[in-house]
Amino acid sequence: TSLTALQVMRDAPVIPVIVLHDVRYAVPLARALVAGGIRMLEVTLRTPEALDCMRAIAVEVSEAVVGAGTVRSPADAEAAARAGARFAVSPGFTPALGRACRDQGLPLLPGTATGSEIMAAQEEGFSALKFFPAVQAGGAAMLKAWQGPFGDVVFCPTGGIGPGNAADFLALPNVACVGGSWLVPGDALAQGDWARITQLAREAVALRI
Ligand code: 3PG
Repeated sequence: TSLTALQVMRDAPVIPVIVLHDVRYAVPLARALVAGGIRMLEVTLRTPEALDCMRAIAVEVSEAVVGAGTVRSPADAEAAARAGARFAVSPGFTPALGRACRDQGLPLLPGTATGSEIMAAQEEGFSALKFFPAVQAGGAAMLKAWQGPFGDVVFCPTGGIGPGNAADFLALPNVACVGGSWLVPGDALAQGDWARITQLAREAVALRI
């Protein structure tokens, strides 16, 4: 049975957006998040080490489901799938990217911020979408406005979300989860403070209402 974008979104209230510069952090980080109840992990393709980090998590942390973030091209999708990614998240959407992810068997959360982008993604068969950058592009009020015309779409708002506003987004009927980088603070990573990251994950899981 293959994973769907909706299953990726519904697994936990928060998808952590992860930026890793050192492959040695990948496995302990993934274990710390899993210990706190978060399994869907988005490792962004923003560093040269990202693909190796995904591969390490995919091989060594069987309870985690590693995905690729910042997927912007068909080549990114292919590289991510080869590295063991099981889903993809993009900051925007193109039909070519949608086809590439489908060809690679990667459920995609396509980034959208306007009605036209939502319609383009729906035209290609995508209806579980990322809203990015969520706070900057209109926040919860924007999602409320989309409930009427796009009542068949569910969103994962990402960008500008943290412990202070996540619950406002999660309370909306067209929000399945949120994305954010706050579960993996850079200093906690550098210090190897895995207990803090587990605690942040636990608190994120508790946001589910
Ligand atoms: C990003 O672009 O890094 C993600 O959208 C996460 O944004 P955030 O740091 O505002 O959570």
